[in-house]
Amino acid sequence: MTIPPRFLDELRARLNVSDIIGRKIKLTRAGREYKACCPFHHEKTPSFYVNDDKQFYHCFGCGAHGSIIDFTMQYDNLSFPEAVEALAGEAGMEVPKASPQEIERAKKQKDLYSLMEEATRWMEGQLRSAENRGAYEYITQRGMDEETLVRFRIGYAPADRQVMRTYLKGQGYSDEQMIEAGVMRPKGQDGQPYAFFRERIMFPVMDRRGRVVAYGGRILPDHLRPPDQGDYTPAKYMNSSDTPLFHKGKMLYAESHARQAATEDKPVIVVEGYMDVIAANKVGFTGAVAPLGTALTEDQIIVLWKMIPADEKVPVLCFDGDNAGRRAAARAADRVIPMLRPGQSVKIAFLPEGQDPDTLVKGQGAKALERVIENAMPLADFLWAEQTAGKRFDTPEARAGLNKILEEITNRIPDRDVQFYYRQSFKDKSWKMFGPSGKGGKTHRPFGAPKTHAEIDGTSHLRRPSFDKESLICSALLACALNYPDILEEVEEDLGALAVSDVRLDALRQILLSHVVPEGLDPQTVQDYVKKEGFEGELRALLSEQIYTHAAFARPGRDREAVLEGWRQARQVLEKLHAQADLKRQA
Ligand code: UTP
Ligand code: MN
Repeated sequence: MTIPPRFLDELRARLNVSDIIGRKIKLTRAGREYKACCPFHHEKTPSFYVNDDKQFYHCFGCGAHGSIIDFTMQYDNLSFPEAVEALAGEAGMEVPKASPQEIERAKKQKDLYSLMEEATRWMEGQLRSAENRGAYEYITQRGMDEETLVRFRIGYAPADRQVMRTYLKGQGYSDEQMIEAGVMRPKGQDGQPYAFFRERIMFPVMDRRGRVVAYGGRILPDHLRPPDQGDYTPAKYMNSSDTPLFHKGKMLYAESHARQAATEDKPVIVVEGYMDVIAANKVGFTGAVAPLGTALTEDQIIVLWKMIPADEKVPVLCFDGDNAGRRAAARAADRVIPMLRPGQSVKIAFLPEGQDPDTLVKGQGAKALERVIENAMPLADFLWAEQTAGKRFDTPEARAGLNKILEEITNRIPDRDVQFYYRQSFKDKSWKMFGPSGKGGKTHRPFGAPKTHAEIDGTSHLRRPSFDKESLICSALLACALNYPDILEEVEEDLGALAVSDVRLDALRQILLSHVVPEGLDPQTVQDYVKKEGFEGELRALLSEQIYTHAAFARPGRDREAVLEGWRQARQVLEKLHAQADLKRQA
């Protein structure tokens, strides 16, 4: 769906950035702006600024920046159309729909959503009604308190094939709609549509926005069911088939809760079933999700990565500790390898044999599950372990065979960088395992390893004295940037290429560079921030008469064209100096 730009402008104009953001986090006034501790990274002192005139927010700490739409997307973890819709609601505007077909489809979906909502509410009521006491007792005795029942909207579908149909009919829904939503089957022996879920504890599956789109239904334990007829044993769980609202391979159970948890920096973990998600939630792992009765699909892996706002997107996949679990882990790893990107991976965790998260927490407490998550293996470690655990490599052929397999795995990674580091990691592991034990190891530093602090600090001795003409021009350019941050976008390349010899001033240059934004920032805001970062001394030296007398263009209060012209001239002088220095060196 494309939303007309004019509508977006209107939307941004109608809503105050500070109102929208102020509703979610506490803002304090700072001159013409507002500031707050940034909601997108951890900090103790505020670097997050909101500017109503310019209709944006900006964080000096983490670089988060954008309009109210960006904020809503990031803070509430919504997609672009979802954020626009939410904000339009606040502004009392209606998002224009593109075509009549789209309107038709949206209307149909809206009806199905409300049908699902109605059905869910009804089943929540059923769970608490007197005639279904057995079901209620069963789940409470399995450790679910009211809070959990409400959070996951757990309900009960009674044995009767028609009650829910009658109820939904009374609410104005047609048989066709009930069938399309997957809560009724088309025709029973009596020619009537009938309830798909019967005598089951109902786990509503909600989409990322928390709308119910499907169900998983768990059978009651044997002692609460009438004896089976003949040799028919119903499945323990039944899941909705795909509907216009639900695509089981693309969604995850508890996705909306996990999305919230991910914005709070909690780990996203994938467990096997409904009960496991709920058990994990009860002990604080609110980032738990589960696939819906199938193995994890590629689409679901993408969903997992997308819901983690942090740079490092590494959900933890939990598997049973038995052989079947190990095989399942291997299959999942196999699926992930061709999808790896910088910052995007998975970790693999194994549960103690014979346990699922639910039984583990119940038997051994929250700590036991915490340990499992903490011990999750990075994917590379898992792949290595999978190829080497319990094997001997005491012949050249065995070693070569291992190398070959690892190389095959590595070659399946499409991203060059990630591939490089996997190869590196496998080499390091081989070295540790086969390398000269005893004498090796202590001095060995695989190439590519980070430099030590001493090595980095060494460069500071190369600092040149800072009174020469070149330094003066650099200082003037920095002063100019500090006084006119709104030219930053235009001079970004210059500033990026500027070789500032003073380490501190160069750090200041980099701060400026990381806050280049199209709308430009207020000089005061930028200077306050730089000061707060500990550059007060530099600031005083730069924004001084001493600089201004040599470089009038850097002085505050000039018009933009004059500033830019001054900048260009200063750059030219700098280039000339460099050319002369080169000549001298060659001579
Ligand atoms: P489990 O059999 O491990 O069930 O199936 P559970 O979640 O531990 O439930 P309890 O503790 O026995 O009550 C794990 C997941 O596999 C899917 C469901 O998604 C379930 O949550 N499953 C299982 C089915 O889809 N159909 C089945 O018949 C069984
Ligand atoms: Mn279980």
